[in-house]
Amino acid sequence: MSTLITIELRVNGKRHSLDIDPSSTLLEVLRNRLHLSGTKENCLEGECGACTVLVDGKAVNSCLLLAARAQGKEITTIEGLAKDGVLHPVQEAFIQEGAIQCGYCTPGFIMSTIDLLAAHPRPTDADIDRALAGNICRCTGYVKIRSAVRAAAGRGGSSHDT
Ligand code: FES
Ligand code: FES
Repeated sequence: MSTLITIELRVNGKRHSLDIDPSSTLLEVLRNRLHLSGTKENCLEGECGACTVLVDGKAVNSCLLLAARAQGKEITTIEGLAKDGVLHPVQEAFIQEGAIQCGYCTPGFIMSTIDLLAAHPRPTDADIDRALAGNICRCTGYVKIRSAVRAAAGRGGSSHDT
């Protein structure tokens, strides 16, 4: 085991000081050290999007980012979206449109959607397909997911303050 390093991470508005192996990914630290298990672990190769989080507002595969490289940035996970018990408009839209079955992929899709809507508050179908190309769902098919993204855009899904 290599020598531990101390890092400071800001996650969902809270600062954390952690001693970690320098090779730890952000995904490992979120799930195993901070117990934020909403961010899912799957391919670990940047192929599925299950581990997507926001880093300074941009959707990032946390399995590919060293935790040490995330220092000084604002990290948002699915646990950080609801405010005062009220779900984020994108979360609401996914529920209302039935865009969830097992739910394993859902946090990643929601984070990618928030990034999309911040840049394109009224996305075209092509914008949606491009933004979600890195997220894989094995259950729902993509029709309801696209509907959820359109519905979220209609609800002001870009007006998050993450
Ligand atoms: S677990 Fe990170 S992209 Fe699949
Ligand atoms: S809802 Fe099951 S993988 Fe997407």
